[in-house]
Amino acid sequence: MTQENKTRTKLRFFGIGKILPFMKTFKNLIILMAVLGLITSLIDVAITLFQRYALNNFVEKGSFAGRLPMYLIVYVGAIVVQTLATYFSCSRAMTVEVSMNRDLRQAAFTHLQTLSFSYFNQNSVGYIHARVLSDTSRIGSLASWTVMDGVWHTSYLVFAAGVMLAINWKLALMVMAIVPLVAVLFSVFQKKLIRANREIREINSNITSNFNEGITGAKTVKTLAIESSMEKRFVDETAKMRKRSVEASRIRGLFAATMNLASSAALAIVLWKNDLISSEEVGTFSLFMSYAQGMMEPIRWLIDAISDLITTQVNIERFTNLLAVRSDVIDSPEVIEKDGDSFEPKKENWEPLKGDIKFDDVSFVYPDGEEEVLSHFSMTIPYGSNIAIVGETGAGKSTLVNLVCRFYEPTQGRVLIDGRDARERSQLWLHSHIGYVLQNPHLFSGTVRENLLYGNPDATPEQIERAVKLVSADEVVARLEKGLDTDVGEGGDLLSTGEKQLISFARAILADPRILILDEATASVDTITEQKIQAAIDEVIKGRTSIVIAHRLSTIRHADCILAVRDGKIVEQGTHKELIAKKGYYYDMYTRQYEDEEAAKILSSV
Ligand SMILES: Nc1ncnc2c1ncn2[C@@H]1O[C@H](COP(=O)(O)OP(=O)(O)O)[C@@H](O)[C@H]1O
Ligand SMILES: [Mg+2]
Repeated sequence: MTQENKTRTKLRFFGIGKILPFMKTFKNLIILMAVLGLITSLIDVAITLFQRYALNNFVEKGSFAGRLPMYLIVYVGAIVVQTLATYFSCSRAMTVEVSMNRDLRQAAFTHLQTLSFSYFNQNSVGYIHARVLSDTSRIGSLASWTVMDGVWHTSYLVFAAGVMLAINWKLALMVMAIVPLVAVLFSVFQKKLIRANREIREINSNITSNFNEGITGAKTVKTLAIESSMEKRFVDETAKMRKRSVEASRIRGLFAATMNLASSAALAIVLWKNDLISSEEVGTFSLFMSYAQGMMEPIRWLIDAISDLITTQVNIERFTNLLAVRSDVIDSPEVIEKDGDSFEPKKENWEPLKGDIKFDDVSFVYPDGEEEVLSHFSMTIPYGSNIAIVGETGAGKSTLVNLVCRFYEPTQGRVLIDGRDARERSQLWLHSHIGYVLQNPHLFSGTVRENLLYGNPDATPEQIERAVKLVSADEVVARLEKGLDTDVGEGGDLLSTGEKQLISFARAILADPRILILDEATASVDTITEQKIQAAIDEVIKGRTSIVIAHRLSTIRHADCILAVRDGKIVEQGTHKELIAKKGYYYDMYTRQYEDEEAAKILSSV
């Protein structure tokens, strides 16, 4: 660890204050939990005092003299109170834990909804998942169990030390002298153990991924004939795993043995220095022995907790950083004032949208990109027109529609909707007027019908049926076991990409959008379905502005205007006829694809 890392780790330890606002809601519960924890450890300490009393007064003097019943009542009473306190403090801790988890997750989820596209492009699903699920759960358990156990163990140490000092300060100091020594020993072992466990986890994840690769890539493994090298990798990793695990068990064993040794050492001190206690006080002798042993567990816990706190600080930091991320695309306060936000839209103030789109000298760089994808780009799409955008992969076609949808904002220049800067109206206003079908459509878990209703929650069964039919999804639905009420699985995984595409097309249509965008939406369907969708497109684009990014050029011949884009610039524009006649870029692309298709047809008919 470098010096810099060390100081950062320390600083993190003090950043725990960042979750205090979340703990504030449960202030009373947490205080109650802590007080109950305090009572539990107070009774722990007191019981030893009772025992001392009993030993000193009853056993030593050999007379119970009728005081036993009183003693028993107090003793049993203390145990009952302690049991109740333990029960209630644990159940309070549990409540705090689950409630904090809920609050933290809700905060994260709500915040994620406000973030723009670019955040999700820059951060993997796995990363976000871990922030929302595992970070929050560690923070939740810190705020509940760590607080409770901390109060409990610390107060035990303080009370026990106090009592020992009060009874016999010389012996107390001698017993306590061993504490720093034990602490150092524990922390050495603990560091070793953490390191060993971390290595084991890493090896384990290597093994799992090797195993997964071996299975999911079975076909490739076979065709490459690399079975033996895959096998060797697996054997090597598992051998390493065995070795490290044995090492870890050894450390653990040593650790446990040291714990025993330490408490025995404390006992030995008491025995050795027994002349400090008068021979009449057997009870005091026993008290010192119990406390000396009882202190070991709290010390071990505290050392564990400190290293836990340091690692949890990383979770806290990542979590609070997530909440601090601001969306790249935000509505101005004036716009929110008028149109509302995603959570409280003021639809009554929304203006109708006609569907004129204009790029006015737009330059654009992706937030994490370096090169300008568009530079000084201008185009006009009058409302109701059907525009097709063609160009090679990476030409900037999807970027253009991302800007129309305001998933990103121009680095320079303006995108105008109905003649006004898109930023003058809310994102929700724009999005609720756009229907967007992507190349990789996403469905939510639930039934087909539920998915369609995301397009328009108020759609009637007849409207749903009509939309499904319009995009030729009726055949897909008919094939499904329960029709519209078939479950599509997580992310729609139970359907093929082509089927998902048709459903998402129907979903877009159901929203009756003013602007319809199809980004290579038919790339994953077969030619026959594509023809059907084509007919549907011709039907649904009437009266709407539409932008179609086509994979197969034969499908966009009827567009009002075709824009051929190359390196973020329009190189040609016009109707299919005009562009063919021009014998330029579009003509080349078209004939090349046509020849490929013909060749494929001939090849497949041979
Ligand atoms: N999220 C992104 N972040 C950074 N660069 C991007 C992103 N998306 C696309 N690009 C880059 O922008 C350029 C245009 O991409 P894109 O608009 O997706 O092309 P097309 O849709 O025509 O295939 C490409 O060079 C691509 O690498
Ligand atoms: Mg694209």
